Amino acid sequence: MDALKKTAKRENIAAMAAASPASLGMWRYADVLPSEAAGKPITPVTLAEGWTPMLHSKRYPGLYIKEEGANPTGTFKARGLGLAVTMAKHYGLQHLAVPSAGNAAGALAAYAAAAGIAAHIFMPQDVPFANYLEGIIYGSDVTMVDGLISDCARMVGEKIKAQKEADTPENEVWFDISTLKEPFRVEGKKTMGYELVEQLGWTYPDAVFYPTGGGVGLIGMWKAFEEMEELGWVSGKRPKMYALQAAGCAPITTAFEAHKPASEFFANAATFAAGLRVPKPYGDYIILDILEKSGGKAISASDETILASILDWAKHEGIFLSPEGAAATAAYDQLIAAGELKPTDKVVLFNTGAGLKYTDMTAEAMHLKRPGA
Ligand SMILES: Cc1ncc(COP(=O)(O)O)c(C=O)c1O
Repeated sequence: MDALKKTAKRENIAAMAAASPASLGMWRYADVLPSEAAGKPITPVTLAEGWTPMLHSKRYPGLYIKEEGANPTGTFKARGLGLAVTMAKHYGLQHLAVPSAGNAAGALAAYAAAAGIAAHIFMPQDVPFANYLEGIIYGSDVTMVDGLISDCARMVGEKIKAQKEADTPENEVWFDISTLKEPFRVEGKKTMGYELVEQLGWTYPDAVFYPTGGGVGLIGMWKAFEEMEELGWVSGKRPKMYALQAAGCAPITTAFEAHKPASEFFANAATFAAGLRVPKPYGDYIILDILEKSGGKAISASDETILASILDWAKHEGIFLSPEGAAATAAYDQLIAAGELKPTDKVVLFNTGAGLKYTDMTAEAMHLKRPGA
């Protein structure tokens, strides 16, 4: 950071990004991303992830939607996996494995294909069909699991252990690219924090609303704020951080409301907001600490209110939210109704994925069938 303070200037970012194809998307923040390792410069594996639009709500003067559905593979997962695969390629890894709620699998499948690395993806068998299709289309090794992401994580761990015990050649042993078990996905996701501040003219909003499963985006943004303050790129009061969950899988809300420092396994997790079906986030204690320090909170919405919010935003704003994004808009409505937030408070709310990735799940929630089918 000391060296960066002398060289990394926020004034240079826009011009650099406009001038160089190597600064596509989130790589406009190359100054604060890995640039070299093991004595060699890093070449990004990029599909132009990041630098997503910030849409101003038509109804609430203070509300901005950060549209992460505009990313390659249709979700913010592209940021973390774009960076993690870049580094995996740099270090010569040949097999990457991931347990996923669905969208991380889709993103790994795409970036691994772009990098020429094998991807082994494990996800619940009832993920949105798009996630399964992505795995197949990009040529990954796909395992559909009768269980949750926690079961997928266990299976990946067991497989790698067995490979090591069988003295599998090192370059054939899978590398577990699970969130927070390697250092780079959080680095990719931190670019959401840089972006929202830059897009607001290098100022903080009053609050950030983030649909939380594993919570890596929230952790990454908080890291970004810390770095930007150290670099002198932003000052003032940090935003209140809100973690939004589905009532059918709400380990963070439960722990937050009970003032516990960590969560407990949320039994029988069930919600059509598939990305939020993480019954025991690995970094729960970090998420809860950030909520507390920022003065924010955790809130859950039922699947019924999530669906109602999807329909409301589609009809009134022309935005097709993912169920995860709609967990955040549903919580926003709740806080406005309770008077805890004013429509003029400056809020950046993450629509973490494109509604179009969930046509099967959302149609099912609406009991909608194709006419004539
Ligand atoms: C669309 C979407 N939103 C939010 C999340 C939760 O992300 P995080 O693990 O960073 O909390 C996921 C995770 O799968 C997701 O796919």
